[in-house]
Amino acid sequence: MRPRVIAGNWKMHHGPAATRRFFGEFSPRLSDPEATILIFPPAISLPAAAESRGGRPEVSLGIQNIHWEPKGAFTGEHSAAMALAAGARFALVGHSERRHVFGETDAQVERKVAAAIGEGLAPVVCVGETLDERREARVEEVIVRQLDAALLGVPENAKKSVLVAYEPVWAIGTGETATVDDVAEAHGILRRRLKEVRGDGFAQEVAILYGGSVNPENAADLLSVADVDGVLVGGASLDPESFARIAEAC
Ligand code: PGA
Repeated sequence: MRPRVIAGNWKMHHGPAATRRFFGEFSPRLSDPEATILIFPPAISLPAAAESRGGRPEVSLGIQNIHWEPKGAFTGEHSAAMALAAGARFALVGHSERRHVFGETDAQVERKVAAAIGEGLAPVVCVGETLDERREARVEEVIVRQLDAALLGVPENAKKSVLVAYEPVWAIGTGETATVDDVAEAHGILRRRLKEVRGDGFAQEVAILYGGSVNPENAADLLSVADVDGVLVGGASLDPESFARIAEAC
């Protein structure tokens, strides 16, 4: 059985003080979630999140991006080991904003996945097509290429420590959600590809999350789709009440 994962990506929102306020309101609202709750605050807010989530061990933390090198002259970057020391147990890798705003490549995604696993962080590998790529019927080609590149960074014995998030770029922050049919098709493609590349045992262990305008109203429907093991929520994870409602939706 794969665990359910409800993840929140705060992007560049909530500094340390806002992070403490968030947990002050979020923790009491969370009754007894069946899912793993995972929050990706800005790196600078990780220590505040680690301190203030107190008493909710089912809430794990992650970093939104890492560098592949362990240290060095990389102004503005964070290593996987630093993220771990600050309380992170997961790392987003290849989020579409990293790919499309900051020019992150498949080759860099591979190195980041390897660095995360090497330091004991579980990478959450994000894949997804743009609107143009969808219109050109290239969804499978794009997400399989992105997945294959990321898997090159995964050592043979690391099966339990990788998660995948399908996030169609056109559905992120737009209020437009993929239909349940679109989601089922993409998740099916990813599960099949995991099996082809790494075998069925590996494929069955990997949680595949859906992301793109998930909110308290649509979360339950999305979570009921075959091969959807969780959701990765951006905007709706910033508000403690809405994120708690999503966490209770599965
Ligand atoms: P959104 O973002 O929920 O605001 O669309 C999702 C994401 O970027 O992970």
